[in-house]
This record gives sequence, C-alpha cells and structure tokens, in this order.
Amino acid sequence: MALINENYLKLPGSYLFAEIARRVATFKEAHPKADIIRLGIGDVTQPLPPASIEAMHKAVDDMASAETFRGYGPEQGYAFLIGKIIDHNYTQRGIKIAPDEIFVSDGSKSDCGNIQEIFGTANVVAITDPVYPVYLDTNVMAGRTGSLQTDGHFAGVVYLPCNAENDFAPSLPAEHVDMIYLCCPNNPTGTTLSRSELEKWVHYARENDAVILFDAAYAAYITEPDVPRSIYEIDGARDVAIEFRSFSKTAGFTGTRCGYTVIPKTVFGKAADGSRHSLNAFWNRRHTTKFNGTAYIVQRGAEAIYSTAGQQQIKKTIAYYMENARIIREGLGAVGITAFGGINAPYIWLKTPNGMPSWDFFDKLLTEINIVGTPGAGFGPCGEGYFRLTSFGNREDTLRAVERFKTLKI
Ligand code: MLT
Repeated sequence: MALINENYLKLPGSYLFAEIARRVATFKEAHPKADIIRLGIGDVTQPLPPASIEAMHKAVDDMASAETFRGYGPEQGYAFLIGKIIDHNYTQRGIKIAPDEIFVSDGSKSDCGNIQEIFGTANVVAITDPVYPVYLDTNVMAGRTGSLQTDGHFAGVVYLPCNAENDFAPSLPAEHVDMIYLCCPNNPTGTTLSRSELEKWVHYARENDAVILFDAAYAAYITEPDVPRSIYEIDGARDVAIEFRSFSKTAGFTGTRCGYTVIPKTVFGKAADGSRHSLNAFWNRRHTTKFNGTAYIVQRGAEAIYSTAGQQQIKKTIAYYMENARIIREGLGAVGITAFGGINAPYIWLKTPNGMPSWDFFDKLLTEINIVGTPGAGFGPCGEGYFRLTSFGNREDTLRAVERFKTLKI
C-alpha cells in the first residue's frame, strides 16, 4: 500500500471555510425556511466588469477561427496582460518590474499555497496570528512544522500576535526566521501596515537573509493615500520580497480565476553549500513544469480591467463594497460592538461581545439572527474573541444584516 504524506495528519479535520459551509448546511437542513445572510467567506457578489465580459466574448470568438485560435500559451502569462499589470500597478507608482518577473496564475490562493515548494523544509516560518490559513496549512503539509500543540499553535512555527493592543502590527520575531508571511491589507483583520512598519520588516529581512512573502490581494481596497499599495514601494524590498496579487477581489474574478506573483530576479535563497540561487528561476522552473498557463479567455478578461472603462467599472464596484464596509462598521458601533478594519479592506474584524468564544458567537449569530460570519479562532489562537464579517454582500443583505444586529441579545 502506498504510504501517505503524514504531515496531513497534523492538520485539523477540514479547511476553515469548508467547516463553516458544513455547519451552515447542517443548520439549513434543520431550518429550511431560515433566511440566511452570508457574510462569512470573502466571496464577491457583484458581476464582472462589463469591459471584461466584452473582452472575454471577443476572446471566445478568437478561439473559433484558425487564424486567431490559441492553444498552450506562455506558462508565465501573455505579454498583453503582463505589460498592463506592470504599467498600472508598478511603473505608474515609480516601481521597476521586468516582464519576466511576473507570473500569471489561476489565482493568488494557489500561488500563496504553492510558493513554499521552492523553499527548504528546514526553514523557520513566521506568520501573523490571526492569519489567512493557506500560509500555515501549506507549510504544515510540506513538513515545515511540528505537530499541533494544545495552545492551538504548531510547533516550530514563529507566531506574531496581532491584536487591538498592538494595533494589529506584528512585532519583529525575537528569534531568527527565514520565511515571513505578511498580508496587507490584512485578511482577516481588515487593517493595514504603515510605510514605517513595512520598512521595519524589509530591514529585518535584509539583515537576516529572510524572504518576505507579501500578499497584496486586497491592495485595490486601500483608500488612505499613505498606505503602500505594494511592498516594492519600500526601498530594498526588491532584494527580499515576493508579492502576490489577485484579480479576485480587485475585479470579481473569484470564480473566473486569475492572479499573479511578482518575483524580482534579485531575490535569492541559498543551498546547503552556501551557493546563492535566484528564486525567480526556481519559481519559473516550477511554474513551467506544473502549470500550463491561465486560460487565454480569462487573461483577456483580466487585461480589460486596465482599459479606461474597466478602471471606472472596478472602482465603482470597490466603492460599493467599501460603502457596505462603512454600513457594517457603523451599524456594529451603534449596537455597542467594537469593530476594526473596513477602511482599507473589505473585512470588518469585531470584538465578540463580553469576550464570547468566537465559535459560540458564530452559533449565536447563525441561530438567533441567521447571519454567517467567520470565527476569529479559525484564523489562529490570537483570533479568539474576534469575529470577521465581509463587506462583499449585496447592499440589501448588508442593510438587513445591520438591522438584525439591532435585535441580537448581547
Ligand atoms: C476569505 O474569505 O478569507 C477569502 O475568500 C479566502 C480566499 O480568498 O481564498
């Protein structure tokens, strides 16, 4: 019989959002008439930008004729999309990124999860607590951690607590770490790191030969001018940081799937013999071996968000979600619930009333007012006592949810 990867045995039974879906399905079965409002998983509700729809229709037509048909594309992505990404997200912000430093993919969840494959298993990983579970779970699967301890932490991982007391800004680790996952704007807390906080991390990475894995999937939601949109706005980051970006939340591609990873050729790792190797070359090797490129039709849809019309359309949708965020934040405040985030991110991170355990609060919301959110404990032990709501619902549901909070017995 084939042996299994026993690292999987270290993981809790199911992925956070699968567990939530299971609990909601059980509730729905018992209460088929319940009018459930889903503010749990961060999935968008508004349709794709019309510019993308138009471009994808045209791309479908391209596939219908031998002259314009496309088979396998470049694994790293088509030049037409990479050029637009560089121009809009980097050159216009004074950042130099070369076309062969961008790798288009089927979304940044895959990239954030897969990137650890190019690193040695002896590396020490630092993650914030709470954290987007993909970073941690994929390192557990790879054997880069020990087992789950009674305090909810995996042995061998360096956890960086983020809570209201430290303004959700992690402190530098006391011990040496090799791989540092940062997510800004943050999922789940909806908060951001200032330029000086990011400078601190880039400085640490440079001093300690560490690599920052910077998830900027929510960059398009930043409203405050002084919050960096990219880690590469920080001097020296080009030598130590890999950045992940996504079209999912930027342009409604959660079901369409497109994202990209930026790996400057100046980011290096070392072999046991001390020789230095470009992580760009390693990722290129992995990408070309394991991936055959994002669909041409999808890349045309992604390209279209950079047209004038596309930019207006995505900005309008993002403003719609951010108005939802304002409604939720203020609605929670009005019933005496303390909430964070929701200014530069589509997530609201609230303190559970009276310090209620977050899974208990999940059950309370589901059963009393039929609202689904995400328990903070699902993102790590420091998420206990917190709870996440998303602003990705439609306006009507968002307003109805806020009304229901007024009836919650707390
Ligand atoms: C979330 O709810 O945290 C996100 O939807 C997860 C993701 O983007 O994969």
